[in-house]
Amino acid sequence: MIAGVVGGGTMGAGIAHLLLAGGHDVVLAEAGADRAEAARLAVTRSLAKAAERGKLTGTPDALLAGLTVVEDLADLPSAAELVVEAVPEDADLKRRVLTQVASVCPTAVLASNTSSLSISALADGLPGERLIGMHFFNPVPVQELVELVHHDGVGPDVVVRVRAWAEALGKTVIEVRDSPGFATSRLGVAVGMEAIRMLEEGVASAEDIDTGMRLGYGWPMGPLKLTDLVGLDVRLAIAKHLAAELGPRFEPPALLRDKVDRGELGRKTGRGFFAW
Ligand code: CAA
Repeated sequence: MIAGVVGGGTMGAGIAHLLLAGGHDVVLAEAGADRAEAARLAVTRSLAKAAERGKLTGTPDALLAGLTVVEDLADLPSAAELVVEAVPEDADLKRRVLTQVASVCPTAVLASNTSSLSISALADGLPGERLIGMHFFNPVPVQELVELVHHDGVGPDVVVRVRAWAEALGKTVIEVRDSPGFATSRLGVAVGMEAIRMLEEGVASAEDIDTGMRLGYGWPMGPLKLTDLVGLDVRLAIAKHLAAELGPRFEPPALLRDKVDRGELGRKTGRGFFAW
């Protein structure tokens, strides 16, 4: 299949990697030459890392032959069957992108990788029967889950096709009704926020809270390190959205707001709950 990916950040680059490794041709759209170049580099690095670990069938070079990076959404292929949108968590931005993709790719399934925004709200003004939430997890080539998020207007054939694509890419699918934070972000953020409140209250150190969940509950990494990896700004935005939709139990802790104000956003800035 010919697939499009919009946005070449951590998630978009990972999704492009996954689709290439699955034998698809991928057109990845990023805004401007510098970002397009960075996106190509991110996909190249990710494929190289998978190859080093013996997780790739075929060489990175052979798979990269299937990748085209474009600097304008208008250059997405009109024959694309699937376009995955992975731009930042901003509803207006996502709606603008999806509207343009819907007209450039008239028959494509429009899949949003949003981790919390309402799919029904994004569907407003779009050919909603083609829109579905297709939520991947970081690192995309490694994490087994895809969360499919339905809104009332989605075409039943779209659900069937997206599930089949995801399963053929080796993923396990869960289906979730469109609701704030879906199934995964709602629980992930709840635990992450509680861990931050426990740190504020001096219950235990960041290291010990994380070790508790790693060794006691079998998490691959603790909730604070995971927040550092996801980005404190990303988690804060999701928590604010969930607080607005679900009530004060999702109100972000002061420590999280303070760290974001200070620019301590986690791994990407060198400091979050841990020094990187
Ligand atoms: N292809 C490409 N990269 C790979 C890879 C593969 N097949 N396998 C591993 N890697 C990468 C890792 O991502 C990591 O990348 P960085 O160098 O950028 O850190 C690197 O190789 C080294 O990995 P490690 O040796 O440190 O660790 P590991 O391979 O044993 O496991 C991990 C790494 C998979 C990230 C593991 O620690 C883990 O499962 N962590 C939890 C991840 C998690 O919970 N993700 C969900 C985040 S929430 C989310 O994504 C949803 C949202 O909407 C915000």
